[in-house]
Amino acid sequence: MDTRGVRIHSSLSSPERRVVAIYPGSFDPPTNGHLDLVARGSRLADQLIVAILNNTQKQPLFTVEERLEMMREATAPFANVEVDSFAGLLVDYAGRRGANAILRGIRAISDYESELQMALMNRRMRPETETIFLMAGEEFSFISSRMIKEIHTLGGDVSSFVPGNIAGRLRARLGRQTVK
Ligand code: PNS
Repeated sequence: MDTRGVRIHSSLSSPERRVVAIYPGSFDPPTNGHLDLVARGSRLADQLIVAILNNTQKQPLFTVEERLEMMREATAPFANVEVDSFAGLLVDYAGRRGANAILRGIRAISDYESELQMALMNRRMRPETETIFLMAGEEFSFISSRMIKEIHTLGGDVSSFVPGNIAGRLRARLGRQTVK
């Protein structure tokens, strides 16, 4: 408690405290922008958990199992990065994993409003977990999974927007589909 009676949470940077950060998302599919955030997040956190939302309401291009595999392959070079999936509230998952930070990327001002709302909601529900925003690398700031899916299903080449292993999977997937 401080002098105003406000509860203070110990600093993320205090020497005795490990930073366990969750990087949540749909990752359908993972992009070079996501991987840039993983690389930078892994330097900030002691442990970074990439958490793929298992959303039964949405019809994804890749199943959760496929996304877990793709993300695990792409993040293999990072020793302190783990890839997992979760369902339900992010803050509940953060509690189960003992995470004290949530990592999110912001590409443009258009991301800001919804990200702010989500961060404030999450903070109200679980003040112990602080949301940390990283600005997307400028070379990735126009990349989105939604556009990659659209370009890919219309027969465009998305190989410069996604890690190599994921480009391969997208090509294999297209081979099995009819492009309309
Ligand atoms: O990659 P996305 O789709 O932008 O990620 C959104 C995600 C998964 C971070 C968000 O939808 C989420 O945390 N969902 C879990 C359910 C939840 O906690 N909802 C309340 C958020 S305020």
